[in-house]
Amino acid sequence: MNRDLCVYAGSFDPVTTGHLDIIRRGAAIFPRMIVAILCNPSKKGAFSMEERLSMLKKSCADLPNVSFDSFDGLLADYLRKKEAGIILRGLRNFSDFESEFQMAQLNRQLNPDIETFFLMASPEHVFVSSSAVREIAMFGGDISPYVPAHIAEEVARKLRPIK
Ligand code: COA
Repeated sequence: MNRDLCVYAGSFDPVTTGHLDIIRRGAAIFPRMIVAILCNPSKKGAFSMEERLSMLKKSCADLPNVSFDSFDGLLADYLRKKEAGIILRGLRNFSDFESEFQMAQLNRQLNPDIETFFLMASPEHVFVSSSAVREIAMFGGDISPYVPAHIAEEVARKLRPIK
């Protein structure tokens, strides 16, 4: 297993400044990172897989050691397939800690070669989530503090205000 390669997985529906905080800081620690979008057929997101991928690529264009992919099934199996040794996760608060603690233990049982590496979210991002961004945009609020500048207009246009 390659400890130089980490995987940062999520739904990214859409990517937020909080995700970008973790991606940037992780990319400064690990030589290589795959940002992997969970492809969940039973959960229809607001954005298509292609849109999510394109928004991630635009937001991380200045990070040469970061690549992008999508996956389905277990994250532990995806890491095995990619021969990656590290799952990167962000922690925003205690409730994240509870669920992340469980997920890290389960992932390690599913694939004992994996270590989960946590970064504390920067304080300005602890309240950000993709569903909050979607809701603010749907009601015509300003999402610019919560999504990368490159994609703010695209997100706002797609989730046009409810009249
Ligand atoms: N900054 C801002 N927002 C963040 C964040 C951060 N640092 N970290 C998480 N979030 C947000 C996400 O945008 C998401 O928002 P939403 O629920 O409003 O859409 C929410 O917090 C939950 O994020 P996360 O826990 O990362 O969920 P996810 O759906 O994005 O990704 C996977 C979860 C993909 C990592 C997980 O479901 C998985 O591994 N699935 C594969 C199946 C599997 O292996 N299951 C067994 C695991 S034990």
